[in-house]
Amino acid sequence: MKNSIFYVLVLAFVSFAITGCVKSIDTEPQELSELQLPEIPYNYADISIPTHFNMEDNTPSDNQMTDHGATLGRVLFYEKAMSKNNTIACASCHEQSIGFANATAFSTGFEGQITTRNSMSIANHRFAKQFFWNSDQRALEEQVMAPIANHIEMGMERTSDLVIKIDAIPYYDDLFTKAFGSSEVTSDKIGKALAQFLRSMVSADSKFDKAVMADNNFADFTELEKLGFEVFRDKGGCEDCHHSMEDFAASWRESANIGLDMDYADEGAGNGHFKIPSLRNVAVTGPYMHDGRYETLEEVIEHYDNGVKPHPNLDWALRGNGIGGAQNLELTFNEKQALKAFLLTLTDEQYLTDVKYSNPFID
Ligand code: HEC
Ligand code: HEC
Repeated sequence: MKNSIFYVLVLAFVSFAITGCVKSIDTEPQELSELQLPEIPYNYADISIPTHFNMEDNTPSDNQMTDHGATLGRVLFYEKAMSKNNTIACASCHEQSIGFANATAFSTGFEGQITTRNSMSIANHRFAKQFFWNSDQRALEEQVMAPIANHIEMGMERTSDLVIKIDAIPYYDDLFTKAFGSSEVTSDKIGKALAQFLRSMVSADSKFDKAVMADNNFADFTELEKLGFEVFRDKGGCEDCHHSMEDFAASWRESANIGLDMDYADEGAGNGHFKIPSLRNVAVTGPYMHDGRYETLEEVIEHYDNGVKPHPNLDWALRGNGIGGAQNLELTFNEKQALKAFLLTLTDEQYLTDVKYSNPFID
């Protein structure tokens, strides 16, 4: 124990000596992981978007996606040096195999502190109009910088520290040059590259997508899945907010109060309104809701069936008979099973395993 403390002190001393005591040591990456990228970058920019993705693309004119730009974004997304003490990357809370969500209700940040909301899944953000549980409408380029500076998540409060740190890592020279024509690191470029990577993350190959593209009346769906889609659109009223042709979110509205509580401790965007999250890959992105209160889809379905609480701001779509109280859907056991079976058709295995979105570091 004493020995290891001594070792850390020597290391700290050496790094101070090397940097001439100018920078604090936690702006220095401690150890470099090995990076493994393909000779020719993966194809990010030239992909076809299925026609049933009837949504506007939010790519701004000054940040068109390139394969090299998205590649840089991918490396940054998995880069632990982006956090103050080199322990946390975006991917720590956004894991590919579970739809880039996190398996716990709250996530652990760089100093072991816990986030106050449930980590969100990431897919098809290039078609989203709002981000985060409070439906923030700033551009993706800005949104991606928030977690880096967040004092719980990654702790790099000063962008100047971030730039110094990334600049000091040798492999970024080449990556920035290829992406932006010069090796100079700026926070603007970091935001742009991360946004490009996020926009490249298109998930469009679930059983549902295939069924829509086949245009054969959902012939490949089981009877239960078909019934589930019917309940989703009709008796369950899910379609009112989770639009099947808008990636199961809804671009025409920002957020809703779904009567989780009579009295919200976290008011979200105000009055208990939270972003209407996309249900893509929902089978693997639990726990659910802004505070991760439900472990399973069964619990979520029970909530909508007969657990909605009256609230002055409860969405009109969840009020029973328009009287102002909360709905009771009276779904049968079979209808609940069907609804779940339908939600499972939104899982896109290709997306969850695609190497182009995977960790480029060899740990
Ligand atoms: C410590 C865990 C943690 C880390 C690290 C983290 N996130 Fe998140 N992420 C969250 C949580 C929690 C939310 C929801 C926060 C909220 O709405 O208040 C979220 C939400 C998001 C959203 C909004 C998604 C949506 O559907 O609206 C995006 C985009 C995002 N994160 C990207 C990133 C990027 C890019 C990084 C790295 C620069 C990152 N995150 C790092 C936990 C994390
Ligand atoms: C009034 C709009 C509205 C309707 C109708 C609605 N939802 Fe939601 N849904 C939301 C909002 C808003 C959230 C997030 C709420 C929160 O976290 O506070 C959500 C969250 C969810 C989640 C959790 C997603 C996650 O990533 O945490 C699932 C699953 C879900 N809804 C399924 C359904 C199903 C199934 C139905 C139909 C029975 C339905 N929703 C009806 C607005 C709605």
